[in-house]
Amino acid sequence: MNKAQLIVALDVDTFDQAQKLIEDLDDSVDIFKVGSQMFTAYGPFVTRYLQVRGKKVFLDLKFHDIPNTVASAVKSAVSLSVAPGNEQDFAPLHMLTVHTCGGHEMLEAAVKAADEQAKKLKVKRPLIVGVTVLTSQAKEDKLQALVLERALLAKRAGLDGVVASVEEAPLIRRYCPKDFIIVTPGIRPAGADVGDQKRVATPQAAIESGSNYLVVGRPIVQADNPKKSAQAIIKEISNSAFLG
Ligand code: C5P
Repeated sequence: MNKAQLIVALDVDTFDQAQKLIEDLDDSVDIFKVGSQMFTAYGPFVTRYLQVRGKKVFLDLKFHDIPNTVASAVKSAVSLSVAPGNEQDFAPLHMLTVHTCGGHEMLEAAVKAADEQAKKLKVKRPLIVGVTVLTSQAKEDKLQALVLERALLAKRAGLDGVVASVEEAPLIRRYCPKDFIIVTPGIRPAGADVGDQKRVATPQAAIESGSNYLVVGRPIVQADNPKKSAQAIIKEISNSAFLG
């Protein structure tokens, strides 16, 4: 597996703010996460803005509903990979999230729908990762076991990986195949404000735990100098030994 990669969470209020961030980070960041805040406000307008610039989009809408509804939502998400015009460098949707607590049938329906729609539209199927337990949830008894159970459920249903905290990543690495993707939010460079996150870790700890993608929002988005902050994290990533 290659070096881990940084994903910047585009968690801002307005499109103007998002546009400024994307421009500021253009040289340093390849993958941006579009979550419920931006997608609810701007929909495909924001994902396409990134895609025409060749940026990879991680659509983090954490689908969780009955299997038929999730399958339909996933189909709509895969359709975002098709360029609206003749754009040359239009990047297909890179990754999307479903929530593992939707259960096996829902997860399997999501993968099947993505496969079928990608084939129909002749686009690369986005990676599908399952949210296990939110990193804003505090550590509690049996949390590690629950995260592992959900990771194994995701694996069995054919997902490409999971979203989990750095604390559970080594356990997932131990029981899931090497190519199973681990996405870790709750990343805080040493000394950064933790906010509402509970299970946090530094970029170095995330890499050493076997994480493939580090999701960072506020430490970059709300920094006085987002570019400087992103570059410091990228440097820490490239100086850390990936143990995946
Ligand atoms: O600002 P911060 O770095 O805490 O942002 C983390 C991002 O990762 C947010 O967009 C949040 O929705 C997302 N996320 C998370 N925990 C998960 C899944 C996604 O914090 N389990």
